[in-house]
Amino acid sequence: MSASGSLSVDLSGATAVVTGSTRGIGRAITERLLAAGAQVIGLQRGTTAIGPGHRCIGVDLSDPAARGQAVRQVLAEDQVDILVNNAGINLRHPFEDFPLEEFSQVMNVNLEAVVQLTQELGRPMLERGQGRIINIASMLSFFGGLDASAYAASKGAVGQFTKSVANEWAGRGVAVNAVAPGYVATELNVSLREDTARNGEILGRIPAGRWGRAEDIAGAVLFLTSEGADYMHGAVVPVDGGYLGR
Ligand SMILES: NC(=O)c1ccc[n+]([C@@H]2O[C@H](COP(=O)([O-])OP(=O)(O)OC[C@H]3O[C@@H](n4cnc5c(N)ncnc54)[C@H](O)[C@@H]3O)[C@@H](O)[C@H]2O)c1
Repeated sequence: MSASGSLSVDLSGATAVVTGSTRGIGRAITERLLAAGAQVIGLQRGTTAIGPGHRCIGVDLSDPAARGQAVRQVLAEDQVDILVNNAGINLRHPFEDFPLEEFSQVMNVNLEAVVQLTQELGRPMLERGQGRIINIASMLSFFGGLDASAYAASKGAVGQFTKSVANEWAGRGVAVNAVAPGYVATELNVSLREDTARNGEILGRIPAGRWGRAEDIAGAVLFLTSEGADYMHGAVVPVDGGYLGR
């Protein structure tokens, strides 16, 4: 810890890829990695960098061919030390009315993109015998939620995928872990926060007494890139103000 109480991690010379790096949780993660000295390559639809050391490749992460093209572009120019699979979407419907096309869309962005990027950016990490991969899971990796069957299915799978790949790669120098955010105030959940009844229920169950901030999640991700996390593999770490333990 530094004198100011914040985690001090030196990532000078490291390159990170962060999906969805320009807003919400991904932006906070990117800012934290940049402040620690890393170069960050963002993969998302937009291409406006948020500051020095950050550059963006525009990609629709729901398109497998575009994902492959973006990976080739990254690897042509850089060696990747850290991958943060952050981008995600949530489409809500009661399950009996859930359009199957939308269900697939959620699985595609939240799971299949994570799988493809982990494989294609993880292979060169395995060749070098070092790397850190951090997937952003969810409370719905642990329980089912309401009207969010696709999201819960995808995030449950992200948790199990994290453990499974960690089992294969932990002994080969590549650490795969996940951070499971609790309720973090971002554009993803504006409708939940505007629903006074739901908002009250959620807040009433958070021991910390407040919604999470994107920076809360970024701190845990930074820790997982640090030496302090050298023996962590296959963990799905809740960062939730105590919600899960309640
Ligand atoms: N906010 C929360 O309470 C919360 C809780 C648990 C988990 N999460 C997870 O954290 C991650 C970030 O969420 P957030 O709250 O910052 O949401 P957000 O909507 O603010 O950001 C999502 C990011 O993903 C990108 N993205 C989505 N679909 C894409 C696509 N097809 N192609 C390219 N980029 C795409 C967006 O551009 C954006 O940058 C997600 O995986 C989400 O599921 C969020």
